[in-house]
Amino acid sequence: MNDPYALARDALAGDGLRGGGLGDDEPADGAADADSAVLAARLDDNDPLSAFADRYRVPDGVLYMDGNSLGPASDAALASLDRVVDEWRESLIAGWTDADPPWFTVGERLGDALAPLVGAAPAEVVVGNSITVNLHTLIGTFLDELLAGNEPERAGVEQADGEWNPAVDPAVLVNDLDFPSDHYAVRAQLRQRGIDPAEKLRVVESRDGRTIDPRDIEAALDAHDDVGIVFMPTALYRSGQLFDVARITRAAHEAGAYAGFDAAHSAGAVPHEFREAGVDFAVWCTYKYLNAGPGSVGALFVAERHHGLTPALAGWWGHEKATQFEMTLTYTPADSAGAWQIGTPPLFAAAPLEGSVELLREAGIDRLREKSLALTDFLIALVDDRLPEIAVGTPREHAARGGHVALEHPDAERLSKALTDRGVVVDFRPPNVVRVCPAAPYTSFADVLEVVDEIEAILDSGAYEDYATGEGGVT
Ligand SMILES: Cc1ncc(COP(=O)(O)O)c(C=O)c1O
Repeated sequence: MNDPYALARDALAGDGLRGGGLGDDEPADGAADADSAVLAARLDDNDPLSAFADRYRVPDGVLYMDGNSLGPASDAALASLDRVVDEWRESLIAGWTDADPPWFTVGERLGDALAPLVGAAPAEVVVGNSITVNLHTLIGTFLDELLAGNEPERAGVEQADGEWNPAVDPAVLVNDLDFPSDHYAVRAQLRQRGIDPAEKLRVVESRDGRTIDPRDIEAALDAHDDVGIVFMPTALYRSGQLFDVARITRAAHEAGAYAGFDAAHSAGAVPHEFREAGVDFAVWCTYKYLNAGPGSVGALFVAERHHGLTPALAGWWGHEKATQFEMTLTYTPADSAGAWQIGTPPLFAAAPLEGSVELLREAGIDRLREKSLALTDFLIALVDDRLPEIAVGTPREHAARGGHVALEHPDAERLSKALTDRGVVVDFRPPNVVRVCPAAPYTSFADVLEVVDEIEAILDSGAYEDYATGEGGVT
């Protein structure tokens, strides 16, 4: 079949769950619930990725809809982790050079594996540190560039003339729906350069509390000529809105600013073209859609034209590899994104990524994205049809939708607890969002239907009222 997921798209696009497309399978009584079950079964039968679910370790009885927070283990990730544990036991220190492949270049090697997922050349991606640390070093690096008088030079973008007035303190443009850690890091980097974040952290405000209108980013660039870095998410962590990376990058460069992105909520779920879009730098994690385990190593992209810059947080692991062990006290940064590594890479926090990313590459990022959109199409269509008390806070256009769906309900926190108690693992984000992530590699359309059945049962019975609110903590 050319488009195995067309039925899901059609269901959301107007045919509805009672509509056509089911052919001979259409139940005689036309009942919506039966239609949904038939539709889910048909979609699962057609799904070319359905066999991948068997290679992930989601416990029996669990409907895991939280892979946008922490992806599950897979056989492949556990195998690559086990291999490195064995290498440690058997080879000890020799593992750095003699393991196959050697640990010494783990950052570069896993960067090469990730590069196709974000549309980068291998040397433009490396793994190391965490998102927040990578953001510190990258924001710091590009602030230093601006303070040295260098703004982005990019062929084909006329307004970016490559010369920043070093007398102007650069501002960083962010938005008010960002993940908090990003603001903490940007503020700290501004402060360390004697720049007052109260003035120079410029924040684009959301009009609806859910999404950021790209025109507001462009308007902020028009209104303030001191913006030196535009730093945006590729997808918002709460609503799941997907940003237009190419458009934002273009606008930033036309205004003479660098364009950086936090891709935590899209890397591994949505294909990117960072190189083609002209993105200057990006950071992301590997514990969400890349399924490399809790606290797994972070990843970053630095465009080739910036290789050779001195990272703000320099360390020996970012030294030119060939001479790293000469142990000179002069730091020579690697001529690649590898320069932004800092210290010794955490091997056990990196090893699972080797297997997990191989699995995603086998499935194919474009096919994963197609299936993810179909799963969220189906989810939204079911919510529209059966859960009138819930609002969908995620954009409906495919181009603006990431991998999860934000379900808004005044009792979202209690609803999320009731679901988790019933084996439907979701999470709550204040004030009113239950995030549901039917991740493509291991979720079926029947799973999505079951999630909606559970939500409906909990809302209809009032079972969520048995739960307390406001306990905080990680959900
Ligand atoms: C969008 C986003 N940015 C940044 C972070 C912080 O990442 P880390 O704890 O790996 O530094 C997270 C964590 O979940 C996130 O979701």
